Amino acid sequence: MPRVQLWEIHEQPWCPPAVRDGATDCLNVIAIWGRQYAYIVPKLRYALQQTQARRVIDLCSGGGGPWLQLASRFQSGGELEPLEVLLTDLYPNLAAMQAAVKQSHEQIRYIATPVDATHLDAELEGFRTLFTAFHHFPPTVARAILQDAVNRQQGIGIFEQTSRKPLSILVMLLLPLIALIVVPFVRPFRLSRLFWTYLLPAIPLVLCIDGIVSCLRTYSASEMAELIAGVQGNSYIWDIGRVRSPLSPIGILYTIGYPAALGGDTDAVGTWPRVEAMK
Ligand SMILES: C[S@@+](CC[C@H](N)C(=O)[O-])C[C@H]1O[C@@H](n2cnc3c(N)ncnc32)[C@H](O)[C@@H]1O
Repeated sequence: MPRVQLWEIHEQPWCPPAVRDGATDCLNVIAIWGRQYAYIVPKLRYALQQTQARRVIDLCSGGGGPWLQLASRFQSGGELEPLEVLLTDLYPNLAAMQAAVKQSHEQIRYIATPVDATHLDAELEGFRTLFTAFHHFPPTVARAILQDAVNRQQGIGIFEQTSRKPLSILVMLLLPLIALIVVPFVRPFRLSRLFWTYLLPAIPLVLCIDGIVSCLRTYSASEMAELIAGVQGNSYIWDIGRVRSPLSPIGILYTIGYPAALGGDTDAVGTWPRVEAMK
């Protein structure tokens, strides 16, 4: 299936914030209930250890995505403490971010003003992560995000739970039903979330449409490798592969990179990333 650069509704400035936040709230609950990113923990832990990062800058965080669950996993890892996670987004979902700060006992923090993943301030230092968001960016912008991480010698981890496969699109068709089930459990409680789910079902619809569009524009492992090959001055160790996801049949495509000077598996050094066999 060829990659198609369409637009998602929730990324449009005209999308009502209650609908956008309601959609990213649902994605949070799905990520956490489904432990979607559980199997990327060893990879991410290894990269964080190599870079000795004490801070993660999560880009395109929505309501926090999987970090509430992941941060506690790293806390129990010992060697990485103290690891601070900074949530950022072009349209910050403040209520969800505030809830994440509280629940994580301030291991998670957030930037309340818009942060554009394509134009990061120089002072935002830390290992960068993007969960189910890199597909938003067309190839030139996507490569610029990778280039910026390399220029600033910051580690980067990109994780996608969508893919350009018919099965993924079928899973997205289930999202409205999943939204109807999870919305009553989303905290903090919002009357508007119930309105936009059960009276005017914009949230289920946006999740379904944006989910399908996300699938159609998700980069494959070989396309990620091509993007990385075009990055200048790239003496990074890159690891691209797919891991299973506990409940989703799609799995997670990951791309992790960090400066080779920091050590690690030197077989993978250079402009050409190591692409693990798809499992
Ligand atoms: C599908 S959501 C993913 C949210 C979260 N990472 C997760 O896994 O649940 C994509 C997010 O990317 C954000 N976004 C889109 N374009 C962006 C940009 N240029 N810079 C920062 N965030 C952006 C949207 O506002 C939205 O919250």
